[in-house]
Amino acid sequence: MIASTMHYSKEEEFPSTMLKYYLIGLYSVTLVFICHGWNEHPDNTRGCKRYEDPELCSIFPMKKINWKEINKTIIFVQNIYIRMETREKILGYADIKIETGTPSHGLFVDSNPEPETTEMMKVSLEAVAASSQIAYEYCTSELLRREECGEKLRRIKLWKTALRSGCQRLGKICMKEDVYSKYRSIDGSCNNYMKGERGQSFTIYGRLLFPEYMGGVRDPRRSVTRQVLPSAREVSAKLELNSIPDQMRSWAVLFWGQFLEHDMAHTAMSKMIHTGKPIECCDPDGRAFSPRYEHPFCMTIKVPPNDPYYSERDVTCLSYVRSAPALGPDCSMGPMEQINQATHLIDASQIYGVTKAKSDHLRNFTKGLLSVTHLTNSTILEISKNPQSDCQQRKFNAPCYQSGDKRVNTDPHMTAMYTLWVREHNRIAAYLADMNSGWDDETVFQEARRIVIAEIQHITYNEWIPSILGTRIKTEYRPDIDPTVSNEFATAAIRALNSVPIGKLSLADEEKKHTYLHKSIDLLLSEMYKNKFTGRRLYYIGKPREVTYGVDILSVDIQRGRDHGLPTYNDYRLYCGLSEAETFDDLRPIMLPKAIESLKKSYKSVDDLDLIVGGLAEKPERGMFGPTLTCVLKDQFERTRGSDRYFYSNPDQPSPFSHSQLKEIEKVTLARIICDNSEKIEKIPPKVFEIVSKRNPEQSCDSKHIPRLDLQAWNNERYTYNHVTS
Ligand SMILES: *[C@@H]1O[C@H](CO)[C@@H](O)[C@H](O)[C@H]1NC(C)=O
Ligand SMILES: *[C@@H]1O[C@H](CO)[C@@H](O)[C@H](O)[C@H]1NC(C)=O
Ligand SMILES: *[C@@H]1O[C@H](CO)[C@@H](O)[C@H](O)[C@H]1NC(C)=O
Repeated sequence: MIASTMHYSKEEEFPSTMLKYYLIGLYSVTLVFICHGWNEHPDNTRGCKRYEDPELCSIFPMKKINWKEINKTIIFVQNIYIRMETREKILGYADIKIETGTPSHGLFVDSNPEPETTEMMKVSLEAVAASSQIAYEYCTSELLRREECGEKLRRIKLWKTALRSGCQRLGKICMKEDVYSKYRSIDGSCNNYMKGERGQSFTIYGRLLFPEYMGGVRDPRRSVTRQVLPSAREVSAKLELNSIPDQMRSWAVLFWGQFLEHDMAHTAMSKMIHTGKPIECCDPDGRAFSPRYEHPFCMTIKVPPNDPYYSERDVTCLSYVRSAPALGPDCSMGPMEQINQATHLIDASQIYGVTKAKSDHLRNFTKGLLSVTHLTNSTILEISKNPQSDCQQRKFNAPCYQSGDKRVNTDPHMTAMYTLWVREHNRIAAYLADMNSGWDDETVFQEARRIVIAEIQHITYNEWIPSILGTRIKTEYRPDIDPTVSNEFATAAIRALNSVPIGKLSLADEEKKHTYLHKSIDLLLSEMYKNKFTGRRLYYIGKPREVTYGVDILSVDIQRGRDHGLPTYNDYRLYCGLSEAETFDDLRPIMLPKAIESLKKSYKSVDDLDLIVGGLAEKPERGMFGPTLTCVLKDQFERTRGSDRYFYSNPDQPSPFSHSQLKEIEKVTLARIICDNSEKIEKIPPKVFEIVSKRNPEQSCDSKHIPRLDLQAWNNERYTYNHVTS
């Protein structure tokens, strides 16, 4: 039996749900409220009262709900948040904060909430807490299954409630100039001009399957046995992955995947609600706090004793802060959703920023250039003016950079990748400005940006996707396709790449690379195509006090899947049209025996498997993953391409590339970009996503095997543009 078809037990699940996270010592107040709620049973036999909203009233036919009651609930939960101030003050007095350089600091930099996110957080938390209350009072009395409950709550829109201020940001109306603009907007809005907010930054992730939370609203799901799930670290430590059968893929596959992830998805972690400070959930040496010092937004990962890595470091607690919540679709109540801070489309938002303000901040405003730092013989990214919040690795005395996305600094290879593309933008801009002396800064910037995005899309769909999925994706543009990044893609499928076995990256190496980073982008780039996948990777290395340790990235990803309410691996197998495993033995045709054994050691039932775990354990088929992760990735990349009005090859855009320009863009490979923007790399394998071999020998950057894109095709003298002006 799969979890989503289980019925709720009235006594067990709802009350424990309620008390777990938010009540913070207000237990008695709650009880008074609940009892009051119970006593006020309306007459079920009569229809809805005349002054009541019939649509709303029909949602719960037995215990009819009305706006007054919803407002009352909202005011009640708002009081809970007011009380939370005391708790946060206690944490402040106790000096509980994220210390620079710790693994928690690394996690924080990676999912740093932007002001737009924190602004929405409070209203969203209140909506979630109110939903939880209503679920408790109304779904329980109607004995609804958790999914039905969630779906009913979704029908309650917040426009008419005390939380309507949260609805103002949703819904974007597109003007004529947005519709006919030759260039895509910076924030992704109006790509679809009928539904202007689709794809826009700071909107919620979509879902392939309805969220599954215990109690239906916000608490992590449990095992089908009703016990808590095994610790994410336990699962990760025991998991034995398959080695990759095709040993030809290079590290570049992973780093491109990460670069794309930065383009398409950026989940934020919650901050303290009153003080706005980052939340620390474990002490810097990796031990749990006493409950008094644990912030309610914490969902720490317990490290089991005898852990192969952490026990010798005496680490028993890995920090995990729940992701910043967001209102449901169309400003609705219901299960907790999460926000995507990035634009949902492939549009180089990690290079250009996700809002106009951010983008302007990154520009030089002469000749279409992006701001950079000039060294004697090279240019690197602009140095960050805010290293405390932008960087983790301060203790290595490494420079801290700024770009469109703060994750530019999480890994030296990533920094190299960003540097490569900022240089490519400036290379193109310089060429265009030189060739078309009549173009102003804005035209040069937008034209260069448009070419850079086209290059990134072409490399993704022409080189990277065939390597990852073992198939090509050529979906044609249709305005009814929705670009919204799925929570499953952002939280599991694209993250799975990070846990694919990769060569050893020792702590010492990591530290060294941070220090010599600004001296050698070339070295980092060449490592990407010279190394192949082999062993697991630890991330977010930090040296809190005495012991240096890293946060196991897969543990965090498993925990995030639970935090986001992703249903189980089996549920996604069904979604993908695959057979459901009823016993662990049913997994035999799909997974290696050692992988199945490792799953049996941590999970009580095959119906409990987390999506990312089951997905990684599958034997790869044509591409890098088995059928389940491939299905989630394929869905996303089909929609990302098919929905993008400004996709480089789409002729149905206001001013498509000319035939000769398209021919030039289609020549681009990642090898070419590296040749054109590295300092001294003169030879490179034409297929960067494959390691060097007889099949893929290194070639000179001047060879015909690595064709050049001829920017003469953008010569304004020869090609007239179809400028559509409003
Ligand atoms: C609920 O609250 C909102 C905002 O405070 C208010 O405009 C609305 O009239 C209230 N509805 C009821 C039925 O009390
Ligand atoms: C723009 O770039 C030029 C030359 O690269 C540099 O001299 C100037 O300081 C930059 N201006 C800004 C505002 O970054
Ligand atoms: C810059 O390049 C020149 C010529 O290749 C070289 O002599 C010099 O050492 C380089 N400077 C630095 C700081 O790398």
